[in-house]
Amino acid sequence: MATALAEITVKPLSDALGAEILGVDLSQPVDAATMKAIEDAWHEHLFIVFRGQDISNDDQVRFCSYFGDLEEVRTGKFANEDMKHTMMITNVTDTGLQTALENGDMWFHSDQCYYEYPCKASTLYAIEIPSVGGNTLFANCYTAWETLPTELREKLDGLKGHHIYDYAGNPMKRGDNINPDSPQYFHPVARTHPATGRKALYVNRLMTDYIDGLPEDESAEILEQLFAHGEQKEFVYEHVWQVGDFVMWDNRCSMHARTDFDPAERRMMRRITVKGEAVV
Ligand SMILES: [Fe+2]
Repeated sequence: MATALAEITVKPLSDALGAEILGVDLSQPVDAATMKAIEDAWHEHLFIVFRGQDISNDDQVRFCSYFGDLEEVRTGKFANEDMKHTMMITNVTDTGLQTALENGDMWFHSDQCYYEYPCKASTLYAIEIPSVGGNTLFANCYTAWETLPTELREKLDGLKGHHIYDYAGNPMKRGDNINPDSPQYFHPVARTHPATGRKALYVNRLMTDYIDGLPEDESAEILEQLFAHGEQKEFVYEHVWQVGDFVMWDNRCSMHARTDFDPAERRMMRRITVKGEAVV
């Protein structure tokens, strides 16, 4: 049975961000009015989760397609022409699918900020999770921007950060010798969300290496201040995964990180992302 609008409930998860959507079975089509309500909740809460879902790749594609065109996977260990939009985020190699091998902690970042058009939405479906850890932290970048000292906001507004994909497989460190061919792009330090009109801080510890137009020392000092500010506990919701969780977050106004877990345990998430617009 398709979900009707009257059946859904939006339950906030923390003061920072996040909401659980109850009453939706994503293995079935969802009507347009309900999808609109889900989109509104996503804009308001930045991160949404549907728990206890049993969804196929096609179900995930159908849900994501409501929000725009899907990203094709640009990197992957294994090519699979039938699932061009799907990447398994996992520490196991037996999926037979395109795989991003990921283990342990990962610093805060915003997906694809090193591209001209970073994906706006990322979705993950939890298939296997470790018994402890491997949680995902989500930080509210609207709040981060809005709570900076006015002087600093005035100084930063209009400047651009340089973002680069160059952490050489180590998600807790940026590269020391930057490869000039790495994917990279300049984006405003404060970006404006096209739907809400709000400004969000758009720099992150993993991928932002300098602010254009500032002396090197000052850029490094301010970035460290911005990272620490944006990562503070009050701005963060920590998602403890359950198998069957389906989540979607907004990369235009949030960043995320992963906590450590035992590499001997299996963790497998199915990821599909939705294309974004130009960053302004
Ligand atoms: Fe990510």
